[in-house]
Amino acid sequence: MKIYLGLITAAALTLAACGGESKTAETAPAQQPAASAPVAASVAPAAAESSAPAASEAASAVAPAAAASAECTTVITSDDAMKFDIKEIGIKSGCAQYTITLKHAGKMPAAAMGHNIVITKTADKDGVLADGATAGIATDYVKEGDERVVAHTKLIGGGEETSVTFDTAKLAKDGAYEFFCSFPGHYAMMNGKIKIAD
Ligand code: CO
Repeated sequence: MKIYLGLITAAALTLAACGGESKTAETAPAQQPAASAPVAASVAPAAAESSAPAASEAASAVAPAAAASAECTTVITSDDAMKFDIKEIGIKSGCAQYTITLKHAGKMPAAAMGHNIVITKTADKDGVLADGATAGIATDYVKEGDERVVAHTKLIGGGEETSVTFDTAKLAKDGAYEFFCSFPGHYAMMNGKIKIAD
């Protein structure tokens, strides 16, 4: 074995010795990849940079479609203490439709502590509330066919949940709109802003 090793070592030495040229020839190609590696590396970030915006463009191009299901919804939770858990809704401009789900985490019935979501221009809110109160609980405290109402849910009680989906084209981009509960006396505690926002 030692002889073998010695032969192999000698052979290796011989190769190394007489392979002076071939060795440089070997290192040259070895250096080329090394030299080209930084080039590739420097190209890579450029490629990454150029592909990154393309990727994000693709992502943003996909976003509205994805948004339709994922981002164009919000959940508002209410309770027996006459509260909504959010005060503002910003609708992404990519949402052709928007869905609001209202949950009532309380225990009281709709007749005593009913909540709904009504969306109107801020300027229309007082009239919609007054007419809704007159209309009564039979129509969820919203006057039937009230064209000032952009959208509204039904009135729910504790433990219930309801949703409404509406076309966002009904909201002017720079308009002032509110969402609120139209149960008599609840507006003061249960209102917020809703707008088209990016
Ligand atoms: Co209410």
